[in-house]
Amino acid sequence: MQRHPIDIADNIRLRPWRIEDLDALVRHADDAQVSRGVSDRFPSPYTRADGESFLAGRVIDLEHPVFAIEIDGEASGGIGVHPGRGERRASAEFGYWLGRAWWGRGLMTRIVGVFAPWAMRELRLHRLQAGVLDFNIGSARVLLKNGFVEEGTQRCAVLKRERLHDLRIFAKTRTRLDGEEVADAS
Ligand SMILES: CC(C)(COP(=O)(O)OP(=O)(O)OC[C@H]1O[C@@H](n2cnc3c(N)ncnc32)[C@H](O)[C@@H]1OP(=O)(O)O)[C@@H](O)C(=O)NCCC(=O)NCCS
Repeated sequence: MQRHPIDIADNIRLRPWRIEDLDALVRHADDAQVSRGVSDRFPSPYTRADGESFLAGRVIDLEHPVFAIEIDGEASGGIGVHPGRGERRASAEFGYWLGRAWWGRGLMTRIVGVFAPWAMRELRLHRLQAGVLDFNIGSARVLLKNGFVEEGTQRCAVLKRERLHDLRIFAKTRTRLDGEEVADAS
């Protein structure tokens, strides 16, 4: 797992989560507008106990590249990738969120623009995928602006807050790694 920060801008970097991030994490994460777009592993309300579980690695495996988005020295969001296993080992899923105070300034577009190529290179991925709930226009724009291709929609895939949602699938793929072509199935 990467221990060195990944610089995005002078005041923005990606780095591993720390126990000391608890206050900032809960402040930014305890927001129904943030949690509505992401997995139920990110609850609402988001309590200190939820934050402690996350920082202790009991919610997702923090040995994978899962980073705090640090803005002006404060953990203000998160981004992480979950690699597949076995025959899916060259493929991974990623997700991200940002505290609402920072929305609408082009930050996640910039962050994904650095993180996605980094993750593909670091994990030697042929495929990086993200699933976006039907209403989440901002997240779909972040991916499209970074060269992700919309592959299709999983109909009725998600039941979130008692409402059924379609899940749009976006991916970035490559057949070559370090100049070496891997034969596809055709
Ligand atoms: C989705 C999210 C990450 C976007 O982050 P952001 O930094 O505000 O995004 P950007 O400022 O880079 O905006 C990207 C594009 O989306 C558009 N956009 C952002 N929020 C939008 C919204 N609510 N409705 C419509 N468009 C929106 C922006 O206008 C921009 O498009 P443009 O360049 O064509 O104008 C942020 O809103 C968030 O954390 N949401 C909650 C968690 C979440 O949904 N995560 C994604 C799970 S798939």
